[in-house]
Amino acid sequence: MRELFPIVSHLAEMRRLSREVRTHGKTIALVPTMGYLHAGHVSLIQLANQHSDSVVVSIFVNPSQFNNRDDFEKYPIDREHDCAILAREHVHSVFTPSADEIYPAGFETWIEVGALAARLEGAHRPGHFRGVATIVAKLLFLVEPDFAVFGEKDFQQLRVIEQMVTDFNIPVKIIRAPIIREQDGLAMSSRNVRLQPEARKSATKLSEALQVIVDSFSKGDNLCWSLKEKAAKVINQEPDISLDYIEIVDEQSLTPLHNATEVSHPRALIAAHVAGVRLIDNMSLITEGKAA
Ligand code: PAF
Repeated sequence: MRELFPIVSHLAEMRRLSREVRTHGKTIALVPTMGYLHAGHVSLIQLANQHSDSVVVSIFVNPSQFNNRDDFEKYPIDREHDCAILAREHVHSVFTPSADEIYPAGFETWIEVGALAARLEGAHRPGHFRGVATIVAKLLFLVEPDFAVFGEKDFQQLRVIEQMVTDFNIPVKIIRAPIIREQDGLAMSSRNVRLQPEARKSATKLSEALQVIVDSFSKGDNLCWSLKEKAAKVINQEPDISLDYIEIVDEQSLTPLHNATEVSHPRALIAAHVAGVRLIDNMSLITEGKAA
C-alpha cells in the first residue's frame, strides 16, 4: 500500500514537523484517536480539514485511561486497516508515539479535572479522565495544533477537555464533531467490533432508549425520573445488557437534573455493558429548531 503521509513515532520529530507547517503560515488540526478507525473518525478528519490547512491524526492506545487491564488488552489494534482508511483522506501526518516515550520511567505529572470528571464515566471508571486529560494535554503540547477535533460520542470527555483547555489557557480551538451512527442507530465505536451478532442487535437498545427520552421530552414529559424510567424499560428488554447509568444532565456542567426544562441544553447519557462490552452513547434533548 502506498502511504501518502509520514508516520511519525518520535516526539521531537512530530514537534519539528508541525512547527515546519506553521512556519509556512499554515494551520494544523489535530485529530486524537486510539486507532481502529471507522466512519466516525473519518468524519472527524473531514471536519478537521474544513477548519484547517493540514490535519495530523494521532494513534495511541493510551494505557493510563484504562481502569481495567482486560479492556486495555482487548482494545482492537489494526495499523494496516487504519493506514488504508487514512490513505483515502487528506492527512498531513500520522503521529504514533510509543508508550515508552509518552510515559518514560520517572513520569510523575498528571492532570486531574475536578467536578466535571467526577461523575458518570468518572464514577464508573476511576482514573479514566486523569489519563485522558494527561494524554490530550501532552498531544496538544507536542503537536501545538490550532484546532483539535473531538467527537460528541464521548460527551463527558469532550467537556473535560474543553474545561482543561480553558483552565490551562492552551491556545487551541476545540471543535465538536457530531455522533456518527450505524443505520440502526448504534453509535459508531471501535469497541463495536467486539460485539457478537446477538449482542450487536441488543446494542441498538442504547440509542433506542435515548431516543425514547428525546421523543417523550418533545411531547411534554419534563420529569427526569419519568424519562429515565421509560428509557430503562427499553434497556430491560434485553437480558444481555447491564446498565451502568442513564442520566439527564446539563450539557455545560454535567450536573444531573430533576426537571429537563431547568436548563437550556439538557442531554441524556447512557453507559452499559452489552454481553460484556462496555458502550456509551448520548443525545441532546433539544432537537433541531427547538433550541432555547
Ligand atoms: O477518544 C479517544 O479515542 C481517546 O480518549 C483520546 C481522546 C484519543 C485520548 O486517548
